[in-house]
Amino acid sequence: MCGIVGYIGHKQAKDTLIKGLEVLEYRGYDSAGIALATKNGAKLYKEKGRIASLKEAINGDVSGMTGIGHTRWATHGKPSKANAHPHQSQNKRFTLVHNGVVDNYQQLKRDYLPDKHFASDTDSEVIVQLVEYFSEKGKSTDEAFRQTLSLLHGSYAIVLMDNENADAIYAGKNKSPLLIGTGSGENVVASDTMAMLTVTKEFIEIHDEEAAVVTNDDVQLKKLDGTLVHRESFQAEIDEADTEKGTYSHFMLKEIDEQPAVIRNIIQEYQNKDGNIKLEKDIRTALEETDRIYIMAAGTSYHAGLIGKELLEKVAKKPTEVHIASEFLYDEPMLSENPLFVFISQSGETADCRGVLVRVKKQGYRTLTVTNVPGSTLSREADFTLHTHAGPEIAVASTKAYTAQMSVLAILAMDCAHAQGMNSDFDAMKELGLVASVMDTICDQKDIMEQVARDYMADTRNCFFIGRSLDYHVVLEGALKLKEISYVQAEGFAGGELKHGTIALIEEGTPVVAVTTQPHVNRNTRSNAQEVMARGANACFISTEETREEGDQIVLPTVHRLLTPLITALPLQLIAYYAAMHRGCDVDKPRNLAKSVTVE
Ligand code: F6R
Repeated sequence: MCGIVGYIGHKQAKDTLIKGLEVLEYRGYDSAGIALATKNGAKLYKEKGRIASLKEAINGDVSGMTGIGHTRWATHGKPSKANAHPHQSQNKRFTLVHNGVVDNYQQLKRDYLPDKHFASDTDSEVIVQLVEYFSEKGKSTDEAFRQTLSLLHGSYAIVLMDNENADAIYAGKNKSPLLIGTGSGENVVASDTMAMLTVTKEFIEIHDEEAAVVTNDDVQLKKLDGTLVHRESFQAEIDEADTEKGTYSHFMLKEIDEQPAVIRNIIQEYQNKDGNIKLEKDIRTALEETDRIYIMAAGTSYHAGLIGKELLEKVAKKPTEVHIASEFLYDEPMLSENPLFVFISQSGETADCRGVLVRVKKQGYRTLTVTNVPGSTLSREADFTLHTHAGPEIAVASTKAYTAQMSVLAILAMDCAHAQGMNSDFDAMKELGLVASVMDTICDQKDIMEQVARDYMADTRNCFFIGRSLDYHVVLEGALKLKEISYVQAEGFAGGELKHGTIALIEEGTPVVAVTTQPHVNRNTRSNAQEVMARGANACFISTEETREEGDQIVLPTVHRLLTPLITALPLQLIAYYAAMHRGCDVDKPRNLAKSVTVE
């Protein structure tokens, strides 16, 4: 979702801004722009579409040591040059970029700005006009900025430039992510640490309802009422090389291939020298004491949560519910006496999860975040964090983060069993080691998945995925992967459920992928596949050596039953990847999607 970069220092700002925006491209956007401070005021460049078009529009030497940049994912107003950021105040003194959604922008427009001329349909323009309004009333820019922020309802990450003082940029946030990167004689502000790595690996957090005045050698952080805040910087453990594609044509393929290494890394990170699980004592106590775990997540992370529930209930006998965070947020079910909330989020920024986190914290409940981004909002704000150690995931479609989430949940389940003094025979570390080796084998057999994609998905309009038990949860993810990157209408169903209505959509040649790795329901899933085949469906079977039958298209080595989702995920990811490739889709940056969904 929208990305922000701001720069102030001794170098040409344009290069850092463009490079930073390019790093943020993976988050999803539909227009981009930058503004540079010049002695004649801010110079703006913006374009609808990709950053490549923006670079063409900038074309040539432009200078300015202070600047701000933005990639926009449209919320208010269609994707267009006029709605692209940066936006300027009517008299062009102030220029701003904004992520988030201002809920009361119409009201603010009516109350304060009836006489201002607006050049866009965005809620963001109201913010910059308000800064000018308060500045015209005699406030300093710092004061006008903070006063404006205090009027905004909703979410925002904002960076502002003032023509009358190009030696500072102003930054503020509420609910949307924004950090300051501190360099030597230069500072940078961005919505993601990765966008600042060309300048620094040292960062200062901005908390909600705080604002900062950033110069090339100083950062002054304040609450919105003007109280000064002192906050230490921290070093991010992130390698710029992790954000490069290397020899791969797409990040998605690279990240699929990284999965065995990620699993091995997780084993290493969570294992003591003596072979025991390494988890904070307080997490163990929370697991032991809770009477019910409530998992909150969205999309792929929700699908990982469904597997997490199976693991926690089967391995640790801990009652667990899985909720779509955006639903839970507005419709809280009856809670147990001592709930533990577990937030699963690759980005650690998903606004729906954050909404729940803020509320349950107020209610006094304990919270744990499972995320791939340490230092992310959900990680900072929860009582505990478990890191998934998958390395930066750049492709919009989540692959390695998903299998990493399930692996960490398997470790959590085993620890939960130990915390309760149970004698579980599930050895997560040993079983994950086997999973990593099986993943290696699958990655070496991409030609099979490419053939399946060609045979079944090359020009289909729709596709169904069926499975039972754990396979059902995995086919939901298989369908999501296919639809998000190939735009094939794909749905995942519990094997027994398809005939209760949806079977009406089966036509001659409709592809149906049947995942059947669970011995106790293998026969049932195969019967369900026969039902659709009798009506013309083109069925593709994914099984294991334990459940295989003659003619199955993809047969995987057997792993622990509870961990089969970790291995069936790979062929499903690869089928989606090759289907998208055959259909000429932009695999890493599918249309309309964002990597980090920071609005509700
Ligand atoms: C799909 C995908 C999304 C995310 C969802 C939640 O490939 O990545 O469905 O899983 O937007 O995002 P996180 O995990 O960052 O909370």
